[in-house]
Amino acid sequence: MAILDKHKIIETNATLLLILSFLVVTIGGLVQIVPLFYLDNTIEEVEGVRPYSPLELTGRDVYIREGCYVCHSQMIRPMRDEVERYGHYSLAAESMYDHPFQWGSKRTGPDLARVGGRYSDEWHVDHLRDPQSVVPESVMPKYGFLERKMIDGEYIRDLMETHRMVGVPYTDEMIDAAQDDFAVQVDPFGDTDGLLARYPGAQVRNFDGQPGISEADALIAYLQVLGTMVDFSTFEPDASR
Ligand code: HEC
Repeated sequence: MAILDKHKIIETNATLLLILSFLVVTIGGLVQIVPLFYLDNTIEEVEGVRPYSPLELTGRDVYIREGCYVCHSQMIRPMRDEVERYGHYSLAAESMYDHPFQWGSKRTGPDLARVGGRYSDEWHVDHLRDPQSVVPESVMPKYGFLERKMIDGEYIRDLMETHRMVGVPYTDEMIDAAQDDFAVQVDPFGDTDGLLARYPGAQVRNFDGQPGISEADALIAYLQVLGTMVDFSTFEPDASR
Protein backbone atom coordinates (compact mmCIF):
# COMPACT_ATOMS: atom_id res chain seq x y z
CA MET A 1 0.00 0.00 0.00
CA ALA A 2 1.46 3.27 -1.14
CA ILE A 3 0.08 5.31 1.72
CA LEU A 4 1.68 3.02 4.30
CA ASP A 5 5.01 3.34 2.55
CA LYS A 6 4.77 7.11 2.92
CA HIS A 7 3.91 6.68 6.57
CA LYS A 8 7.30 5.06 7.00
CA ILE A 9 8.91 8.44 6.31
CA ILE A 10 7.17 9.88 9.37
CA GLU A 11 7.84 6.87 11.55
CA THR A 12 11.56 6.89 10.85
CA ASN A 13 12.03 10.65 11.31
CA ALA A 14 11.61 11.60 14.97
CA THR A 15 11.55 15.35 14.40
CA LEU A 16 8.91 15.16 11.69
CA LEU A 17 6.85 12.75 13.84
CA LEU A 18 7.05 15.19 16.76
CA ILE A 19 6.01 18.19 14.66
CA LEU A 20 3.10 16.34 13.06
CA SER A 21 1.95 14.89 16.43
CA PHE A 22 2.01 18.38 17.90
CA LEU A 23 -0.10 19.67 15.00
CA VAL A 24 -2.68 16.90 15.43
CA VAL A 25 -2.94 17.47 19.18
CA THR A 26 -3.27 21.23 18.64
CA ILE A 27 -6.10 20.84 16.14
CA GLY A 28 -7.84 18.32 18.40
CA GLY A 29 -7.50 20.65 21.37
CA LEU A 30 -8.86 23.65 19.49
CA VAL A 31 -11.85 21.69 18.24
CA GLN A 32 -12.72 20.74 21.82
CA ILE A 33 -11.93 23.98 23.61
CA VAL A 34 -12.85 26.84 21.25
CA PRO A 35 -16.62 26.11 21.07
CA LEU A 36 -16.77 26.55 24.87
CA PHE A 37 -15.79 30.21 24.47
CA TYR A 38 -18.97 30.82 22.48
CA LEU A 39 -21.39 29.10 24.84
CA ASP A 40 -23.05 31.18 27.56
CA ASN A 41 -23.95 28.10 29.48
CA THR A 42 -22.75 24.53 29.36
CA ILE A 43 -25.41 23.31 31.77
CA GLU A 44 -28.47 21.71 30.28
CA GLU A 45 -31.47 23.35 31.92
CA VAL A 46 -33.88 21.06 33.69
CA GLU A 47 -37.52 21.81 34.47
CA GLY A 48 -38.22 22.65 38.09
CA VAL A 49 -34.82 24.01 39.04
CA ARG A 50 -35.31 27.54 40.41
CA PRO A 51 -33.21 29.97 42.44
CA TYR A 52 -33.45 29.55 46.22
CA SER A 53 -36.14 31.52 48.03
CA PRO A 54 -34.86 34.23 50.41
CA LEU A 55 -35.32 31.97 53.47
CA GLU A 56 -33.67 28.96 51.78
CA LEU A 57 -30.78 31.12 50.63
CA THR A 58 -30.31 32.35 54.20
CA GLY A 59 -30.33 28.75 55.41
CA ARG A 60 -27.71 27.92 52.84
CA ASP A 61 -25.51 30.65 54.29
CA VAL A 62 -25.93 29.12 57.76
CA TYR A 63 -24.96 25.74 56.28
CA ILE A 64 -21.79 27.25 54.82
CA ARG A 65 -20.97 29.28 57.94
CA GLU A 66 -21.30 26.23 60.20
CA GLY A 67 -19.10 24.17 57.90
CA CYS A 68 -21.66 21.41 57.30
CA TYR A 69 -19.85 20.75 54.00
CA VAL A 70 -16.83 19.57 55.98
CA CYS A 71 -18.74 16.37 56.79
CA HIS A 72 -21.45 16.30 54.13
CA SER A 73 -21.28 16.14 50.35
CA GLN A 74 -24.12 17.18 48.04
CA MET A 75 -23.32 15.19 44.95
CA ILE A 76 -24.73 11.75 44.25
CA ARG A 77 -22.47 9.93 41.81
CA PRO A 78 -24.04 7.68 39.16
CA MET A 79 -22.85 4.51 40.86
CA ARG A 80 -25.24 1.80 41.85
CA ASP A 81 -24.60 1.84 45.59
CA GLU A 82 -25.05 5.62 45.74
CA VAL A 83 -28.14 5.72 43.56
CA GLU A 84 -29.75 2.96 45.62
CA ARG A 85 -28.98 4.74 48.86
CA TYR A 86 -29.60 8.39 47.99
CA GLY A 87 -31.73 8.41 44.83
CA HIS A 88 -31.20 9.67 41.29
CA TYR A 89 -27.65 10.84 40.65
CA SER A 90 -27.16 14.60 40.86
CA LEU A 91 -27.69 16.67 37.72
CA ALA A 92 -25.45 19.62 36.89
CA ALA A 93 -28.56 21.82 36.71
CA GLU A 94 -29.42 21.03 40.32
CA SER A 95 -26.46 23.07 41.51
CA MET A 96 -26.54 25.73 38.80
CA TYR A 97 -27.71 28.38 41.29
CA ASP A 98 -25.27 27.30 44.01
CA HIS A 99 -22.49 29.82 44.48
CA PRO A 100 -20.23 28.34 45.67
CA PHE A 101 -21.40 24.79 44.94
CA GLN A 102 -21.66 22.45 47.93
CA TRP A 103 -20.57 19.20 46.29
CA GLY A 104 -18.02 18.70 49.05
CA SER A 105 -15.22 16.20 49.19
CA LYS A 106 -15.74 14.46 52.52
CA ARG A 107 -18.48 12.16 53.71
CA THR A 108 -18.20 11.76 57.45
CA GLY A 109 -21.99 11.94 57.35
CA PRO A 110 -24.33 10.95 54.50
CA ASP A 111 -24.70 12.85 51.23
CA LEU A 112 -27.39 15.53 51.61
CA ALA A 113 -28.15 16.26 47.94
CA ARG A 114 -31.61 14.63 48.28
CA VAL A 115 -32.28 14.91 51.98
CA GLY A 116 -35.29 17.22 51.32
CA GLY A 117 -38.53 15.54 52.38
CA ARG A 118 -36.75 12.48 53.81
CA TYR A 119 -37.38 13.52 57.41
CA SER A 120 -39.98 15.66 59.15
CA ASP A 121 -39.14 19.16 60.38
CA GLU A 122 -39.43 17.87 63.94
CA TRP A 123 -36.81 15.22 63.20
CA HIS A 124 -34.46 17.96 61.97
CA VAL A 125 -35.09 20.08 65.06
CA ASP A 126 -34.31 17.11 67.35
CA HIS A 127 -31.34 16.06 65.24
CA LEU A 128 -29.80 19.54 65.13
CA ARG A 129 -30.36 19.98 68.85
CA ASP A 130 -28.84 16.64 69.77
CA PRO A 131 -27.85 14.31 66.90
CA GLN A 132 -27.10 11.47 69.33
CA SER A 133 -30.70 11.49 70.57
CA VAL A 134 -31.85 10.20 67.17
CA VAL A 135 -28.70 8.41 65.96
CA PRO A 136 -26.82 7.27 69.10
CA GLU A 137 -23.52 6.55 67.28
CA SER A 138 -23.52 9.93 65.47
CA VAL A 139 -20.38 12.08 65.60
CA MET A 140 -22.27 15.15 64.41
CA PRO A 141 -21.92 18.19 66.71
CA LYS A 142 -24.95 19.81 68.36
CA TYR A 143 -26.45 22.88 66.69
CA GLY A 144 -29.23 23.69 69.17
CA PHE A 145 -28.08 27.32 69.40
CA LEU A 146 -29.42 27.93 65.88
CA GLU A 147 -33.02 27.87 67.11
CA ARG A 148 -32.24 30.60 69.65
CA LYS A 149 -30.55 32.86 67.09
CA MET A 150 -33.38 35.04 65.77
CA ILE A 151 -33.06 36.64 62.33
CA ASP A 152 -35.12 39.17 60.40
CA GLY A 153 -33.73 39.05 56.88
CA GLU A 154 -31.97 42.36 57.34
CA TYR A 155 -29.31 41.54 54.75
CA ILE A 156 -31.35 39.34 52.43
CA ARG A 157 -31.48 41.93 49.64
CA ASP A 158 -27.70 42.31 49.69
CA LEU A 159 -27.27 38.56 49.68
CA MET A 160 -29.58 38.16 46.68
CA GLU A 161 -27.94 41.04 44.82
CA THR A 162 -24.59 39.36 45.35
CA HIS A 163 -25.92 36.12 43.94
CA ARG A 164 -27.38 38.02 41.01
CA MET A 165 -23.93 39.46 40.33
CA VAL A 166 -22.56 35.95 39.84
CA GLY A 167 -25.39 34.88 37.55
CA VAL A 168 -28.43 33.81 39.57
CA PRO A 169 -31.45 35.29 37.73
CA TYR A 170 -33.04 37.14 40.66
CA THR A 171 -35.30 39.82 39.21
CA ASP A 172 -35.82 43.32 40.64
CA GLU A 173 -39.27 42.15 41.71
CA MET A 174 -37.77 39.24 43.66
CA ILE A 175 -35.28 41.51 45.36
CA ASP A 176 -37.92 44.14 46.21
CA ALA A 177 -40.12 41.45 47.75
CA ALA A 178 -37.22 39.64 49.45
CA GLN A 179 -37.89 40.78 52.99
CA ASP A 180 -41.61 39.91 52.79
CA ASP A 181 -40.96 36.57 51.11
CA PHE A 182 -38.38 35.79 53.77
CA ALA A 183 -40.91 36.31 56.57
CA VAL A 184 -43.97 34.76 54.95
CA GLN A 185 -42.31 31.40 54.29
CA VAL A 186 -42.47 30.52 57.99
CA ASP A 187 -46.04 31.80 58.34
CA PRO A 188 -48.62 29.16 57.39
CA PHE A 189 -51.40 31.77 57.78
CA GLY A 190 -49.73 34.48 55.70
CA ASP A 191 -50.44 35.54 52.13
CA THR A 192 -48.03 33.34 50.23
CA ASP A 193 -49.32 33.86 46.67
CA GLY A 194 -46.42 36.15 45.73
CA LEU A 195 -43.83 33.86 47.29
CA LEU A 196 -45.19 30.80 45.49
CA ALA A 197 -45.40 32.64 42.15
CA ARG A 198 -41.78 33.70 42.45
CA TYR A 199 -40.49 30.42 43.89
CA PRO A 200 -42.79 27.63 42.68
CA GLY A 201 -43.06 24.76 45.10
CA ALA A 202 -41.54 26.64 48.04
CA GLN A 203 -42.58 24.95 51.28
CA VAL A 204 -44.34 27.21 53.75
CA ARG A 205 -44.21 26.08 57.37
CA ASN A 206 -43.04 27.05 60.80
CA PHE A 207 -40.00 24.84 60.34
CA ASP A 208 -38.61 24.89 63.88
CA GLY A 209 -42.07 24.89 65.50
CA GLN A 210 -41.35 27.98 67.59
CA PRO A 211 -42.51 31.59 67.34
CA GLY A 212 -40.32 33.97 65.38
CA ILE A 213 -37.79 33.26 62.63
CA SER A 214 -34.61 31.56 63.75
CA GLU A 215 -31.53 30.35 61.93
CA ALA A 216 -32.90 26.84 62.46
CA ASP A 217 -36.02 27.83 60.45
CA ALA A 218 -33.80 28.96 57.58
CA LEU A 219 -31.48 25.96 57.74
CA ILE A 220 -34.34 23.44 57.84
CA ALA A 221 -36.12 25.24 54.96
CA TYR A 222 -32.88 24.82 53.01
CA LEU A 223 -32.42 21.15 53.95
CA GLN A 224 -36.04 20.39 53.03
CA VAL A 225 -35.67 21.79 49.50
CA LEU A 226 -32.46 19.92 48.70
CA GLY A 227 -32.98 17.56 45.79
CA THR A 228 -36.72 18.19 45.54
CA MET A 229 -36.85 20.69 42.67
CA VAL A 230 -36.67 18.18 39.83
CA ASP A 231 -39.52 15.71 39.48
CA PHE A 232 -37.63 12.48 38.78
CA SER A 233 -40.80 10.50 38.09
CA THR A 234 -41.05 12.39 34.79
CA PHE A 235 -37.42 13.37 34.21
CA GLU A 236 -35.84 12.04 31.03
CA PRO A 237 -32.18 12.67 30.30
CA ASP A 238 -31.69 14.43 26.97
CA ALA A 239 -30.41 11.57 24.84
CA SER A 240 -29.25 13.86 22.05
CA ARG A 241 -26.23 14.93 24.10
C1 HEC B 1 -18.27 16.27 62.32
C2 HEC B 1 -19.02 15.94 61.13
C3 HEC B 1 -20.39 16.56 60.91
C4 HEC B 1 -20.72 17.91 60.80
C5 HEC B 1 -19.81 19.10 60.97
C6 HEC B 1 -22.11 17.92 60.46
N1 HEC B 1 -22.61 16.67 60.37
FE1 HEC B 1 -24.50 16.15 59.82
N2 HEC B 1 -24.06 14.19 60.09
C7 HEC B 1 -22.84 13.70 60.47
C8 HEC B 1 -22.95 12.25 60.64
C9 HEC B 1 -21.83 11.31 61.07
C10 HEC B 1 -24.28 11.90 60.33
C11 HEC B 1 -24.92 10.50 60.38
C12 HEC B 1 -25.49 10.22 61.74
C13 HEC B 1 -26.61 11.16 62.09
O1 HEC B 1 -27.68 11.10 61.45
O2 HEC B 1 -26.43 11.99 63.00
C14 HEC B 1 -24.95 13.15 59.98
C15 HEC B 1 -26.28 13.23 59.59
C16 HEC B 1 -26.90 14.37 59.15
C17 HEC B 1 -28.22 14.43 58.59
C18 HEC B 1 -29.14 13.24 58.32
C19 HEC B 1 -28.80 12.71 56.94
C20 HEC B 1 -29.47 11.42 56.57
O3 HEC B 1 -29.70 11.23 55.37
O4 HEC B 1 -29.78 10.63 57.47
C21 HEC B 1 -28.49 15.74 58.31
C22 HEC B 1 -29.75 16.31 57.70
C23 HEC B 1 -27.33 16.50 58.70
N3 HEC B 1 -26.38 15.64 59.20
C24 HEC B 1 -27.23 17.87 58.60
C25 HEC B 1 -26.10 18.59 59.01
C26 HEC B 1 -26.05 20.03 59.00
C27 HEC B 1 -27.17 20.93 58.53
C28 HEC B 1 -24.84 20.37 59.50
C29 HEC B 1 -24.30 21.78 59.74
C30 HEC B 1 -25.12 22.62 60.59
C31 HEC B 1 -24.12 19.15 59.79
N4 HEC B 1 -24.93 18.09 59.49
C32 HEC B 1 -22.82 19.10 60.27
C33 HEC B 1 -21.69 14.42 60.65
C34 HEC B 1 -21.58 15.80 60.64
